Order: sequence, then C-alpha cells, then structure tokens
Amino acid sequence: GGVAVGGVAGTLAERAAADPSGPGSAARNPNPLSGAAEASTASDPIEFYGRHQPGVTDRAPAQLRFLTFDLTDAGRRGGALAKVMTRLSGAAAAMMAGHWLPEQGAVTENLAPAGLTITFGFGAGLLRAAGKPVPPALNPLPALPGDALDPARGDGDLAIQVCSGDPQVVSSVARALVVLARGPLRLRWSQNGFLPSAAASRDAGATPRNLMGQLDGTDNPTGSRLEIAVWLPSQGASPGWMADGTYLVTRRIRMLLDSWQEQPTAFKEHVIGRSLSTGAPLSGGDEHTAPEFTARDRSGALAIATNAHVRLAHPANNAGATMLRRGYSFDDGFRADGQPDAGLFFQAFQVDPEQAFTPIQRRLAGSDALRRFIRHEASAVFAIPPGATRGGWVGETLLG
Ligand code: HEM
Repeated sequence: GGVAVGGVAGTLAERAAADPSGPGSAARNPNPLSGAAEASTASDPIEFYGRHQPGVTDRAPAQLRFLTFDLTDAGRRGGALAKVMTRLSGAAAAMMAGHWLPEQGAVTENLAPAGLTITFGFGAGLLRAAGKPVPPALNPLPALPGDALDPARGDGDLAIQVCSGDPQVVSSVARALVVLARGPLRLRWSQNGFLPSAAASRDAGATPRNLMGQLDGTDNPTGSRLEIAVWLPSQGASPGWMADGTYLVTRRIRMLLDSWQEQPTAFKEHVIGRSLSTGAPLSGGDEHTAPEFTARDRSGALAIATNAHVRLAHPANNAGATMLRRGYSFDDGFRADGQPDAGLFFQAFQVDPEQAFTPIQRRLAGSDALRRFIRHEASAVFAIPPGATRGGWVGETLLG
C-alpha cells in the first residue's frame, strides 16, 4: 500500500487514508515542499471537490499565480457573492479536470492541467460585506517590527491561488478567472512565483532551494502533525462554516541578495543554523535529523546560535506553534536602485495565525540573524473555507 513519493494525485490526507499502514509515516506522507515540483500528467488531475480545498497539502508544483480581488458595489448587492462563488467554483472544478473553458480561447488546447489546483480564500472585508462576524483568526495582523508594508500589495476581499507545473496553464487559468470574476470583483494585486521544475531537477525527491540557496521546507510538519497544524476540526470548529478549513498568511519578502551573496558560507550557515549544502542542522546528523539546541561545537559555543533562524522559529521554542510553509520564490526583475526585486512569497497555512505565524514572526523580527538580509513588503490573511461538495461551491457553508 505504498504511495509513490513523487505522486501528486489526492491530498496527503486522502493518500494517508488510502494507506493501510496508516498515517504518520514520513516516507508515505511527504512534506509538500520536499520533492522538486512534479509535473502531473493528463491521467492524474487533482480533484477539486472534497473535504478540504486543494492546493494546501498537495505537493507544490513549479508555478504559482496568486490573485486577490476587492468587491465592487455590484458585488456587495444581495446574492451577488454567492452567485460569483458558484460560477468561479464551477470553472475551477472544470479546469482542474482539464476541461478548458471558452474564456481560454485556444491557449490551453492540447495541454494537460499538470497538477493544477485552484484555492479560494476570504478576507475580512468579504465577511463584513456579507454581514457576517469576522472570526478573530482573520483579524488584521498587528504591526510587526521591521515591517515596510505596501498596502496596495496586501489584503483583499477574495484570494485565488493558482498552482500548476506548467506556466502557460497558470497564465491562462488566472486570466479566465479574472474574466469570470468581472462585475462583482475587481483585481487588487497579484504575485507570480516559482519553484525548481521537474524538468530541471536531478533528484525529484529533494527539498527545493530558495533564492538564497537554502533547502527550504525541510522541517515542515508531516503526517498527523500536519493535519492538526493546518485543518480546523470537522466537528466543533468555530466559526462552524470554517470546519475543515484553514487560514493562510502571505508575506512578500524581498531578499537583499547582493549583500547575502557577499557573506562567507560558514556565516550563511550560522544565520539559519543548518548546513547550506546538505540542510543538516549544525548540531549534527543529516537533513531530517532534529536540531539539538543545547549542542555545543568544539570551541564550546552553541552549535545553533542564539539568533539562528531555526532556533527562533522551531515549534519546541514557540510553545509548539506549528504551521505549513508552502511559499514560492518570486523574481520580478530589478528595482530602480538596481537591486533584484526577488525573494520569497511566503505562504503559511495554519489553524490560527494568532497562535502560529504572528508570535513566531514577532520573535524573528526581534532577533533573527536573517532579518538583515530580508524586507517584509506586503502582508495578507485569508480564511480558506472547506472544500466544495460535488455539485456545491466553495463558500457555501458561509454564504449558502
Ligand atoms: C525554517 C528560510 C521566513 C518560519 C527555515 C529554514 C530555512 C528558512 C532555510 C530551514 C529549513 C526548513 O525547515 O525549512 C527562510 C527565509 C525566509 C524565511 C529565506 C524569508 C525570506 C520565515 C518566516 C517565518 C518562518 C517569515 C514565520 C514567521 C520558519 C519555521 C521554520 C523555518 C517555522 C522551521 C523551524 C524548525 O522547525 O526547525 N526557514 N525563512 N520563516 N522557518 Fe523560515
């Protein structure tokens, strides 16, 4: 009953459920970022309908387009929101199955969805427009030290995350969704992202490297820890419409790549607390050995420095706070000052940002050795409602 590590069909939960040896095996329930982006084939599209929305615990394919929208006056009128979510959900289900829409013209003719997922998120503004109470987990994040946020590139009433192994599929799907949303919704901001593609990856099972060159995603939760960290419970969730949903925090984090590049390797390793080449913690072992925060090197100094990123971010040093990081690199060219406009479009899924992202980021912003080399430029929080039942639509539990 083993599940191929490179497989992309089904959520991790479904894969675990289909596995007679049960959930919790790291090998059978790989972290969505461990493994180079795998292009799906025509034969195994990811299912849109289900308990959870797709694109959360599914392995991240190579291409991302993240879209956000504001409601227009027309969108605030009674019933308009339910109508547009019905339309967008139907379109998403069809396109994920590779049934392309007239709105796409001939652009995707003969293309497979390549692991396409389409995920919807609701911002606090959408709930207010719908006359619903805003759950505390969806409150705007507090101002955090070091933030230099551009409001025009943050927040939004509706978010749509489009992921696929193919850049042309992503482009065409995103455009079709923007066209279908017209009237009740107006595009607010969008962000492209990427990971190493399957075509270029010599080791399909390897953790992808970010633009600083680090293996990124190593210590993401897997198995039952992942389920508990990400999904609100099916029963007894508060608010009830979020049962089997999750919350997403996005941060556009620019990397100061020119000054990072100048640093010696040993320094770069101390900034994170892991080896640059293998990703192993500086306390010893291999990439997946748990870091030992009390270990000392030969000189008697802490092997993982007091201000190392993994020490400050690790659940054991944050009262257990855990999230799923599923970010994408971005490269939007160069800024007017000649510096690369590139970095990490950080995305974290969790049961409650107030218990996970926010306290961890507050600590990182205070003393993380990495903070010299990064700038948080935009921020958003979205409620990711449960998946749609067959024939239903995303948001039905709130707006139906
Ligand atoms: C771990 C890089 C921002 C939370 C890591 C690791 C790297 C890394 C290389 C070690 C490998 C791994 O476990 O994935 C970066 C870079 C960032 C960034 C380059 C910004 C450009 C953030 C932010 C947060 C965060 C904003 C949350 C507020 C974490 C957590 C871990 C981690 C929770 C796992 C710690 C552990 O369990 O050992 N990051 N990170 N990171 N990072 Fe970040």
